[in-house]
Amino acid sequence: MSEDRKPWRIGIAGLGVVGSSLGKFLAEAPDFSPAHGRAVVTGVSARTRKDRGFDLSDVAWFDDAVALAKSPDIDLFVELIGGAEGVAKAAVEAALESGKAVITANKALIATHGQALAKLAEAKGAALLYEASVMGGVPAVKMLREGLTGEEVTSVAGILNGTCNFILSEMERTERGFADVLAEAQKLGYAEADPTTDVGGFDAAHKIAILAALAFGGAPNLGIVEIEGIDKVDLIDIRLARDLGYRIKLIASAERDGEGASIRVNPALVPLNHPLAQAGGALNALFIEGRRIGRIYMQGPGAGGSATAAAVAADIADAMARPIRPVFQAAAEGLGKRGAAAGGDHRDKAFLRLMVQDRPGVIAAVSEALAKANVSIDSFLQKPVEDTGHVPIVLITHPASASALDDAVGHIAALEALVEAPRRIRVARI
Ligand SMILES: NC(=O)c1ccc[n+]([C@@H]2O[C@H](COP(=O)([O-])OP(=O)(O)OC[C@H]3O[C@@H](n4cnc5c(N)ncnc54)[C@H](OP(=O)(O)O)[C@@H]3O)[C@@H](O)[C@H]2O)c1
Repeated sequence: MSEDRKPWRIGIAGLGVVGSSLGKFLAEAPDFSPAHGRAVVTGVSARTRKDRGFDLSDVAWFDDAVALAKSPDIDLFVELIGGAEGVAKAAVEAALESGKAVITANKALIATHGQALAKLAEAKGAALLYEASVMGGVPAVKMLREGLTGEEVTSVAGILNGTCNFILSEMERTERGFADVLAEAQKLGYAEADPTTDVGGFDAAHKIAILAALAFGGAPNLGIVEIEGIDKVDLIDIRLARDLGYRIKLIASAERDGEGASIRVNPALVPLNHPLAQAGGALNALFIEGRRIGRIYMQGPGAGGSATAAAVAADIADAMARPIRPVFQAAAEGLGKRGAAAGGDHRDKAFLRLMVQDRPGVIAAVSEALAKANVSIDSFLQKPVEDTGHVPIVLITHPASASALDDAVGHIAALEALVEAPRRIRVARI
């Protein structure tokens, strides 16, 4: 590049975990993408003025992120505030309105308002890039958006929330219950003070909605994602699943379903020798399956300031390189929202955990209840009688439709020998 080329003036709104990491990186390496020019932070916005770990003395401060987004003194706007509504959305809209390239790590915003923002970006000829919104430092968005153009992707499935993966891994490793491990995760900074977005499965839902849009050529359709979090996963289920050769993970998956897509997030059993079962701690992992490519597997850091800032920086380089692609797979104006009822015709294996009284004939009654619903047993395990006089029974069914499994669980729940409601967890179809 020629030395006298004007630098790109970058505005960063949000100087928290990711924003301050990005600021430090750009202060140290403004020439990180030499083919495209220097990237210099010239404006920032956050709630409070305090040390952010890089020199802000020559950087304009904006109390109002929207004013930063509109400023004629920046060329490229980076939104690292978060949230689907409020100032993050207003600032992104303002930057796009003024024709500026926008880079964001905000999955809630893209999953909720992706199509409207994409229409605005495309109408204004501005780039809207969001690599860091899914899987932090792992370039999953680029893989689907650019690397697999023209491929018929049939499914994507993986572990997209590091907090849940950490909690489930720790529950198994240390044999502690959910609440205990969640408290530790909060202390370590892996979980927010209000953990609902993560442990309730909503964060993973935002991410899989974005990946599904890219995989199947639609716009994000958060409304059709079937969501179940990890807050009801008991240690006993983790132990019993392991006895049967499985590990429980929060799996986010999207499958092409005719003209639609079936998208869900839920705790699921994964065979112990499967790569997704091996991705422990706060790691993220993803399988992409396509007609011609077969399977691609990606694994890496799904969060963390520097890994996420690396993905943001890669988007900055793309925006500086300029040829602007559609925000999703095709122009936003014509994109449909692919959707189908999750679980429609799909047949899943299920893990059923039953607590029954220790008396003759119970197992026969359970088998009969399953047979009545036309569900057959793949594997079965009866544990020793507990001090309470109750016996844990755990079984894995052969694949069955959701309605047959509902029936089976209903018949079992009605058995007199049952001492608590049956627990049902999906076995991942991966
Ligand atoms: N953390 C990760 O590992 C990670 C990974 C992938 C994606 N993301 C996404 O990246 C985004 C940022 O996450 P984060 O973890 O960096 O969040 P964070 O640490 O909570 O930082 C948020 C920043 O936004 C600022 N802010 C809040 N309200 C504002 C307002 N009204 N005007 C201007 N600034 C405001 C805060 O200012 P103060 O500092 O003054 O309070 C703070 O600097 C989110 O969309 C998140 O989902 C994060």
